[in-house]
Amino acid sequence: MQMDTVSRGLEHAFVRAGVRSMQGYVPGEQSEQLDVIKLNTNENPYPPAPSVMEALRAVSADALRRYPPPMSHGLRQCVARIYDFPVSGVFCGNGSDEILALCTRAFVEKGRKIGYFDPSYSLYPVLATIAESDTVEVVLGDAFGWVDPPLDAGMDLFFLTNPNAPTGMLFPMEKVEAFCARFDGVVLIDEAYVDFAVSDCLALARRYPNVVVSRSLSKSYSLAGLRVGYALGAPALIAALDKIKDSYNLDIVAQQLAVAALTDQAYMHDCVQRVCNTRLWFEKEMQARGFALYPSETNFVWCKPPASISAQAYVDALRQRNILIRYFSAARLAPFVRITIGLDTQMEQLIKETDAILEASHG
Ligand SMILES: Cc1ncc(COP(=O)(O)O)c(C=O)c1O
Repeated sequence: MQMDTVSRGLEHAFVRAGVRSMQGYVPGEQSEQLDVIKLNTNENPYPPAPSVMEALRAVSADALRRYPPPMSHGLRQCVARIYDFPVSGVFCGNGSDEILALCTRAFVEKGRKIGYFDPSYSLYPVLATIAESDTVEVVLGDAFGWVDPPLDAGMDLFFLTNPNAPTGMLFPMEKVEAFCARFDGVVLIDEAYVDFAVSDCLALARRYPNVVVSRSLSKSYSLAGLRVGYALGAPALIAALDKIKDSYNLDIVAQQLAVAALTDQAYMHDCVQRVCNTRLWFEKEMQARGFALYPSETNFVWCKPPASISAQAYVDALRQRNILIRYFSAARLAPFVRITIGLDTQMEQLIKETDAILEASHG
C-alpha cells in the first residue's frame, strides 16, 4: 500500500462502515482552566478517602513491574464482603462503562436488540452501534416517569439506569422487579448514582438469574480518575463477562486504591451525606428563583430555567462567568439543564451568578 493512497483519503476503506458513519460518544467537557467551577460531569467535589492517598503512596516499584492480578481477586473479595455476595457473582471493570460495553458483547445475539429508556445514559446507543445491534428506545412518560418496556421487541439486553440520568429520578423498585421477572433477556441495572439514593435494586441481582447490577467508584467514592466499577449478578453471567474481558482490565494502582476506598465505607457515606445536604439546600434556592426541579436521588439536579431565559442561554451565560453545567441539545432535553452538586461555596457562587443572569434576562 502506497502512502499516497492514504493521503488521497482512501484509507477510509480500512475502517468498518459502521464505525465510519457512527457518532462517537461525547463526554462532558474537561476544562484545563483552574478557575472554572466544574459542575458538568457529576464528579464528587470532595477528595477521595485519606486511606486511598496512603495506598497510592504505598504502591511499590515491584507491583508496577509485574502484571496485575488478572481477575482483580482482592478487589472482588472486598466487594463480595461488603455486600455479602458470592465472589463468583462479582465482576470488576475499568469504570462501569467497561462493564456496559462487555454486556453488549456477552449477552446480545446477532440480529437481536439492545433496549434502554429515552432519556437515559447517552453512552448506550453508542455501545449498541459499536456492537452492530439495533436498539429499542423506550420513551419515558411526560414527567420522565416509568413506562413498561415491551416484552416482545426482540431485546436480549435492557440497560435500566436507576436512579436515571440525566433526570436524577429513582424508578420504583416494584416496577423494576416486575419487568425483570417477565423479561427474557438480561437487565443491566446501572446504579452509578445509587449511593446517593434512598434505595437500591441489589436484591434483584440476588433474586433473578437475568439481572446484573453495575456500580461505579467515580461518583460516591470521588474516584472518577481511577476508572473502577463493579457488577453483581448470577455467576453464569459474571463468568461470561470474565471470558471476554481484556486479560488485565484493571491496573494494579486501580485495584489497590479501589480496595482502600471501598474499605472506608464511613468516609464515603459522610461525603454522600454532605452532597445530599447541599443538594437539598440548593434545590430550595433554585425553586425560589422559578426553576422547575425534578426529584433527584443523585449528586446532580435536572431542572428547567424560568420562562425569561432558555436553557441554552442560561448555560452560555454561566460559562461566560466560568461556571460549567451540562446541556443536552436533543429536542426533548433542550429545555433543561443538569447541574452537578459541588461544594457549598461553589453552589453559592452559582446562585449569585444565576441572580445576575436572571436580572439581566428581565431587563
Ligand atoms: C448512568 C451512568 N452510568 C455509568 C457511568 C459511567 O461511570 P464510570 O465512570 O464508572 O465509567 C456514568 C457516568 O457519568 C453514568 O452517568
